[in-house]
Amino acid sequence: MKTAAPSAHSKILILDFGSQYTQVIARRIRECQVYSEIVRFDTPAAEIARLKPNGLILSGGPASVYDKGAPHLDPEIFSFGIPVLGICYGLMLMAHHLGGRVVFTGRREYGAGMLHITNGSELLDGLGNQLEVWNSHGDEVTALPKGFRVAGTTEGCDFAAVEDRQRKLYGLQFHPEVAHTPRGTEILQNFVYHVCHCAMDWTMGSFIEEACMRIREQVGDQKVVLGLSGGVDSSVTAALLHKAIGDQLTCIFVNNGLLRSREEEIVQRVFGENFHVRLKYVDASERFLALLKGITDPETKRKLIGNEFIKVFQHATEDLLEEDRAHVIKSHHNVGGLPEKMHFELVEPVRQLFKDEVRQAGLQLGLPKEIVYRQPFPGPGLAVRILGEVTPERLSILREADTIVVSEMESSGWYYRVWQSFAVLLPVRSVGVMGDQRTYENTIVLRIVESQDGMTADWVRLPYELLARISARISNEVKGVNRVCYDISSKPPSTIEWE
Ligand code: XMP
Repeated sequence: MKTAAPSAHSKILILDFGSQYTQVIARRIRECQVYSEIVRFDTPAAEIARLKPNGLILSGGPASVYDKGAPHLDPEIFSFGIPVLGICYGLMLMAHHLGGRVVFTGRREYGAGMLHITNGSELLDGLGNQLEVWNSHGDEVTALPKGFRVAGTTEGCDFAAVEDRQRKLYGLQFHPEVAHTPRGTEILQNFVYHVCHCAMDWTMGSFIEEACMRIREQVGDQKVVLGLSGGVDSSVTAALLHKAIGDQLTCIFVNNGLLRSREEEIVQRVFGENFHVRLKYVDASERFLALLKGITDPETKRKLIGNEFIKVFQHATEDLLEEDRAHVIKSHHNVGGLPEKMHFELVEPVRQLFKDEVRQAGLQLGLPKEIVYRQPFPGPGLAVRILGEVTPERLSILREADTIVVSEMESSGWYYRVWQSFAVLLPVRSVGVMGDQRTYENTIVLRIVESQDGMTADWVRLPYELLARISARISNEVKGVNRVCYDISSKPPSTIEWE
């Protein structure tokens, strides 16, 4: 078996059993400046050992250990001597596999509770005698495995905090990671620092170092292709891969004709000229526009664009294979749907990072702020911001309006304070007046929203002066537009994009 390269930093692995809080656990650990990584619940013990974690956390999860098809782990992990913290379902599994008894009580304990700390415990050190905790569970441990003892109880549960110090196995019935357990972070800190002896050594620098080592180990002397969209994730992935493997990386940038103004220039300048990345620029705009002729249905547009992208990308990759006569590994998460027969292996170095961490990595790798802090832009591009048919004329109107929105948002300092700010072109014409002339022209809508993750959003209360300036500039400078509206809908019930 391949052994992993030595780690540049301490590491906690989190086995994910489907809890809505797994990401939160990962986040809390990283806030301790300790690297955490989420892995599948059924990752084989040998693979876990290979990754050399300082400790393991078993997440909660919605299942009961007795459910048919309930997620189970490889019980070998309990015999490595690596500290393990089981949270909720994780505790049930630990008890179940180590000879304790777990029952499905039929009643769910849900909500706030008080933990009475009955015994000194490394995990609960410094937390006094009682602690507000948050419960959410159906199963309950009713008999502890041999070697375990109780460290804390709640009203509804005699085994709310348990431990086997000798084997370094710890279990909590409640959720220390959620905000409703106000001192939960201290419990996690006790685990990572005092039980697992992690150093506070996770910095972006050490992440990049280790990611580069892992990439080199995975790639060997093969070639990697990356579908570079110019978005934050693919840009940071490109910079990281380039640092790790230099010219073994080729980026493919497809111009689908639906990009913002000068997008292809920016990407070629940043990656081709500044980073000296091998960049294959494919101008497929005519193919895409021909395909979209006469199409007005939003989902049909999306499907056509997605399928065409796969074809163009596949074609470009085949060309590379012929040129290089080499095996190719694909990178970047967003190029879904490539045919199985292409036999790609995946490299996904930033998959584990949160968005703000991806940005931090980008800055550290030397990417410019204009790339690192750019707003999300949908794959189907301006096509879903032109309601109705996409034509070269309508694209040109929307591009000009969009450029004004971006430039005014940037110069006023608002661009980086909002989630997205863009223009939408409606299939509606209305009457206006310009000089002595009556006009009958297009309508632009401004969509400017704040959001944490795009799932919900609210419209931004921009200063009137800024809205007035954007509106005046669009009406005066963009030929074919005589009316500008501001979208004051939140998501839900509206979506962020108009199509
Ligand atoms: P909605 O319109 O669903 O958008 O509220 C939520 C977020 O997702 C982006 N979005 C897309 N991104 N392909 C993408 O890559 C798409 O088809 C797509 N549709 C919406 C949108 O810009 C927003 O950030």
